[in-house]
Amino acid sequence: MSGSLTRRKSLANLLQQASESRLKRTLTARSLIALGIGAIIGAGLFVRTAAAAADNAGPAVTLSFVVAAVGCAFAGLCYAEFAAMIPIAGSAYTYAYTTMGEMTAWTIGWALILEYALGAATVAISWSEYLNNLLGSLFHFTIPYQWCHSPMETSAFTGAHGVINLPALLILLLLTLVLIKGTQESASLNSIIVMVKVTIVIIFIAVGWQFINPANHTPYLIPEGTIGHEGTFKHGWLGVLGGAGTVFFAFIGFDAVSTAAQEAKNPARDMPRGILGSLAVCTVLYILFGYVLTGVANWKDFAVKGKEASVAYAIQNFMPGYGWLATAVSIAILAGFSSVILVMLLGQSRVFYSMSNDGLLPKLFSDLHPTCRTPYKSNIILFFFVGAFAGFIPESLAGDLTSIGTLFAFVLVSLGIWILRKREPNLARPFRTPLVPLVPILGVVVCGAMIVSRDRQTQLTALGWMLIGFLVYFLYSRSHSKLNTVDVKDPAATR
Ligand code: ALA
Repeated sequence: MSGSLTRRKSLANLLQQASESRLKRTLTARSLIALGIGAIIGAGLFVRTAAAAADNAGPAVTLSFVVAAVGCAFAGLCYAEFAAMIPIAGSAYTYAYTTMGEMTAWTIGWALILEYALGAATVAISWSEYLNNLLGSLFHFTIPYQWCHSPMETSAFTGAHGVINLPALLILLLLTLVLIKGTQESASLNSIIVMVKVTIVIIFIAVGWQFINPANHTPYLIPEGTIGHEGTFKHGWLGVLGGAGTVFFAFIGFDAVSTAAQEAKNPARDMPRGILGSLAVCTVLYILFGYVLTGVANWKDFAVKGKEASVAYAIQNFMPGYGWLATAVSIAILAGFSSVILVMLLGQSRVFYSMSNDGLLPKLFSDLHPTCRTPYKSNIILFFFVGAFAGFIPESLAGDLTSIGTLFAFVLVSLGIWILRKREPNLARPFRTPLVPLVPILGVVVCGAMIVSRDRQTQLTALGWMLIGFLVYFLYSRSHSKLNTVDVKDPAATR
């Protein structure tokens, strides 16, 4: 074992690695934006909008979206500079390796497992719930409780215990197979799904607009101290901030665009477009969606009657004649969740690919399929890893951990931009984050505040996960790091 914890990969070394990439360059700006939207619009919009309205912000959930989007925009601007400059598959992990050193890079890579792997598991569990909903309404048939719930859950109605969540495993398996087939195939499937879900969101906004009842939007900002569901208090602007923490999940994914940098045809130009473009499109859709949803149904309904499948609830009860839209929304939601899972799995395997190329993870994570040229072994291992969470753990446990892992990565990426501007001011930067250091500092502050606002239990679990990561680093990764050999030949690598 050799080298300090802050040894860094030289930028020259990274760019050389990018030029020797064995991954196929197939993605255009358009497919990158689609990739972003594919990862972004999912459970956060279709499930958490109503939850944030009911529990935190009321109709002002639209303002919660604005706050969360602003936090993401700061981090997104920093991601864009990095992704255009260092078009390597590992995203935040790789950026940290060249700015803050190996130990920080490892930490970020480990935190990204929370974002992508647990994110995929969370959405796979939601997919399973919606599938059951749809089967029930279309065919009057539902999968027995024990086969679509984790052993940690018990039905409040029948007392049945969960055994395993089979539909969640099924969707993970199908998408793993698509990913092994190829990035281009995955991007094509993703583009179709994105079209379907964006169309449905737009139809809901356009049709629902006519059914907005102004009374539901009055008052728009719930006055502090208003009694809501089960005696909970709504806290004016604090409610808006709490809502931002809840709907933050809806924005997770725009950074996944950067994990595909090595497969972009023109990363310098298209990475910023992919990251910021997908973030902008989704922000506009979210605000309009939140406005219509809380206008059609009253926010108080979402705490009780409309808690499950809230969008379908709003349509069925307050938009007479549009029953078909409720079914279409459910189908679009299933498709939408699939693309989120797809991009999360893609992102995770690409982070593992980079970590393995650097020697921090075993070589099998970067072995490519002889004909498909995808990291198929990594995809298969990931299926079992993510499946273990999706099959045996409830959604609530995975969701907040996903947000913490993501926010942590955002904080470090924001810091990284500032550090690299100081250390390497003259590097060619195809895209420059504006107002450095103000934008990175605001990124750290806003994302840091959202981490602090999470509950103590989730914070401690995330901490436990990070401690396991340090153990793996010291027992395996540090001694296997390729920098151990590069050190000798290329002193610049550890500058
Ligand atoms: N943003 C993704 C979703 O909402 C993770 O499902």
